[in-house]
Amino acid sequence: VKCSHYFINLITINSVQAVVKPNWPEIYSGETITLTCGIEEGGGSEWEYEWRTPDYYTPPNPRGSMMTSSVRGDYSCKGRLKDGGSTTEWSDAFTVKTSDVPQPVLTVSPSWTSPGDSVTLTCSVEPPSAGWRFFWYQAVPELSLNYTYELLAGNTTGTEQDSYILHGQTHTAGYVCRAGRGDPVFYTLYSDVMFVWSGGVNPAASLTVSPHRLQHFSTESLSLSCEGNSTEWRLMKADESGFMSSCSYWGQMTGSTCNTDTRASSGVYWCESATQSSNAANITTHSGDVILVSPVRPVTEGHSVTLGCMLRTKEHLDNVDFYKNDKLLPNGVGGELLISAVTKSDEGFYKCRGRNSPPGLETLTSAESWLSVEREYESFPSDIRLISLK
Ligand SMILES: *[C@@H]1O[C@H](CO)[C@@H](O)[C@H](O)[C@H]1NC(C)=O
Ligand SMILES: *[C@@H]1O[C@H](CO)[C@@H](O)[C@H](O)[C@H]1NC(C)=O
Ligand SMILES: *[C@@H]1O[C@H](CO)[C@@H](O)[C@H](O)[C@H]1NC(C)=O
Ligand SMILES: *[C@@H]1O[C@H](CO)[C@@H](O)[C@H](O)[C@H]1NC(C)=O
Repeated sequence: VKCSHYFINLITINSVQAVVKPNWPEIYSGETITLTCGIEEGGGSEWEYEWRTPDYYTPPNPRGSMMTSSVRGDYSCKGRLKDGGSTTEWSDAFTVKTSDVPQPVLTVSPSWTSPGDSVTLTCSVEPPSAGWRFFWYQAVPELSLNYTYELLAGNTTGTEQDSYILHGQTHTAGYVCRAGRGDPVFYTLYSDVMFVWSGGVNPAASLTVSPHRLQHFSTESLSLSCEGNSTEWRLMKADESGFMSSCSYWGQMTGSTCNTDTRASSGVYWCESATQSSNAANITTHSGDVILVSPVRPVTEGHSVTLGCMLRTKEHLDNVDFYKNDKLLPNGVGGELLISAVTKSDEGFYKCRGRNSPPGLETLTSAESWLSVEREYESFPSDIRLISLK
């Protein structure tokens, strides 16, 4: 008997190993892992185990071959035969490195939609790790707080794919994602709220911009009004870096109208009520002498649209060239560009340029703005599609 103990001890010496399951490349603070002490030859019930752990107080299961932990540091184990007391050597240390709980980044594509479009949400966790499932939420405006998050399609199990397609997106809406893995589920932080914007009419919530154009002089103040199925509104802006704030930070909200302080700044503006988000407008402000006058809302196919060119003095320029995607258009007449029946092919970046310089003015070329063209709204059963989002 003695001899056979000795024999087992001899083969298993140094072959004990602490392995961690699941073998994910990153372990996060708060996440629970299981370490197993493995003995290659056998390792049956005649063995018990000893652990060296980074938390000296409470190794949860000091004699078992498995232990769970969420503490970073070095783990090693050794095996001992229950009756004989022969032991293996300590295994090589297995180092558990925990990282801070990650915040995923949500991207939405495209970020501007027309009724009926599909939108793809993508949730990425950096550095990429294994075993995640992804959870998708709509951000519902909560006027006293920021947003509450509602699981899309009531899906509590999440998706294996890191992307999610929204079919038939009609209105402006915010989305959030997070990832989770393990049992019980360990969740990452929530991503920031990302918006899918729609410029189109939403009768339950609409934004009106005054003066009624996309481009403004940087010294102008703006009046932004919310209308629709609510008495209480919040006016939101996402600036060029994506930072979101409401009117109370940069303007004066009176009833459902926000008047900006003297200088408005570029950004995407939209209204939110407790249940709805309005059309959004990508407003830009300019310090030059000339701006393009173009519509705030998308133009419906078949309708007409007129673009103009305005001086800082608010005079309309009447000797003007118009450009679409940097190409000179032949048909600007009397300071205006009239497109009598727009089609999808008229969509693009437009700008205007005064042909001769009034005294004292130098920059006679405006910045460009996107002219958006929408198909006829009624052809999309928006109510049905909206329900499928919830
Ligand atoms: C709303 O969000 C802002 C920015 O993330 C944060 O500073 C603020 O505390 C939030 N307010 C509430 C009531 O959660
Ligand atoms: C949740 O998502 C999974 C995977 O995409 C799908 O199989 C399941 O049917 C969904 N459950 C619900 C309630 O939508
Ligand atoms: C406005 O709200 C009422 C009551 O909640 C609802 O019946 C009506 O359909 C809503 N109108 C729109 C345009 O959403
Ligand atoms: C808003 O318009 C400007 C100028 O056309 C453009 O550079 C910017 O990317 C637009 N912003 C968004 C969020 O679409």
